[in-house]
Amino acid sequence: MTVKFYSGEKIPLEMHKVRIIQKLNLLPVEERLKAMKEAGFNTFLLQNKDVFLDMLTDSGVNAMSDRQQAAMLEADDSYAGSASFTRLEKTIQEIFRKKYFLPAHQGRACENILSTTFVRPGTYVPMNYHFTTTHAHITKNGGKVVEVFTDEALKLNSDHPFKGNIDIKKLINLIQEVGAENIPFVRMEAGTNLIGGQPFSLENLREVRKVCDEYGIKLVLDASLLQDNLYFIKQREDECQNMTIREITWQISDLCDIIYFSARKLGFARGGGIITDSEEDMRAMREYVTLYEGFLTYGGMSVREIEAIAIGLEETMDEEMINQGPLFIEYMTNELLKKGVPVVTPPGGLGCHINAMEFLPHVPQHEYPAGALAAAIYIASGVRGMERGTMSEARDENGVENLANMELVRLAVPRRVFTLSQIQYVIDRVSWLYENRHIIEGLKYVDEPKVLRFFVGKLDALSDWPERLVEKFRADFGDSL
Ligand code: F0G
Repeated sequence: MTVKFYSGEKIPLEMHKVRIIQKLNLLPVEERLKAMKEAGFNTFLLQNKDVFLDMLTDSGVNAMSDRQQAAMLEADDSYAGSASFTRLEKTIQEIFRKKYFLPAHQGRACENILSTTFVRPGTYVPMNYHFTTTHAHITKNGGKVVEVFTDEALKLNSDHPFKGNIDIKKLINLIQEVGAENIPFVRMEAGTNLIGGQPFSLENLREVRKVCDEYGIKLVLDASLLQDNLYFIKQREDECQNMTIREITWQISDLCDIIYFSARKLGFARGGGIITDSEEDMRAMREYVTLYEGFLTYGGMSVREIEAIAIGLEETMDEEMINQGPLFIEYMTNELLKKGVPVVTPPGGLGCHINAMEFLPHVPQHEYPAGALAAAIYIASGVRGMERGTMSEARDENGVENLANMELVRLAVPRRVFTLSQIQYVIDRVSWLYENRHIIEGLKYVDEPKVLRFFVGKLDALSDWPERLVEKFRADFGDSL
């Protein structure tokens, strides 16, 4: 049941109230330009004090509930055998119906453990789509990431409800080509991050499982964005409409051998972990937990976060606690579409994704259109988004740019953090920018690290376009911030 407005307007309605607030600061446009230059045109390097709405990521910045905050006060601080850990372990066993839980300090730590345990030089890891840190860990261990997405996945505008599905034929072809013995696991990513937070269907996961069974390959789920994927399965998949979120979670979990997650996303806190029913796999991975993360009853997490994750996971089973993100993203996407702004459709989870290639057709990919647009959005609004395109890719071994499949600017909507008027402000400023898109030009790296360059690399504008953008802003907005 949803609330309908008498006016007929489709507006998402928050089923929670705000009880703790943080004051925000919006700098004048000239100071925003200065801050962007100091940050080397890299939104990761902006200081949060200079940011009005932080839409960089949903990672570790989702709003917590009163129950999470209360649980944090009760945390049991002990190195070994903490009662907080036992509570989290029990919650996980109930939600995922699996025996073993290995804690880790965040999602990529789980990827390190998984890759170190299972990936060997010369092996292949098929997946619906890669995530940056996943790719880095698999290749560091000598494996090769092979994406077996469907033809819909890369269509930026589509009405396909499950663009995160795996193409079963491509998966089988790959297995036959390289041999099942050279595939340590198939990886399915919930709420496929880099293609716009797009979900997979339960039906597709079931088909992937069948293939894995036939060839004796493990199926690993990256559940970091599971909450959005669960919501979309419930909304979009016929067979699941009368199922509870908990029942859908059970079905998903039963199909997977290993599940790992970043609790900076799933669970609305900060941490991570690996879940499995296999004692053998658990034992193989366990030694790396104690080596890299910490003792088995905290794994690098603070006990307070462990308590918050336990409650956060339990709350994830409540549709009204997980629907705010997807509903706000749907609203933002639809409103931007009405103004002609090219955005990824159907609306996914995690955030609203702007198609920079279409927004800035005059900026070639090697001049980082998505990076330039993210910088321009900050200058125009104080809103911090994230480049998800060529700037985030690594060069190949010969130093040649790896042009990304998509040039996206992600405006993440951390769950339950922003109000609808703040979302309307973003829509307004992005629409203004779209009308002035001809001003925006490209960027070039001036300081380019070799590994995960997008995090700390610095860039510069290829002309004085940022100054011209500020001039136009002043002309159109007068003395407005
Ligand atoms: N897997 C997925 C699908 C993710 O989105 C992330 C993180 C990770 C793994 C790694 O988890 O950050 O806890 O180490 N995504 C963040 C983002 C960084 O902004 O999208 P982590």
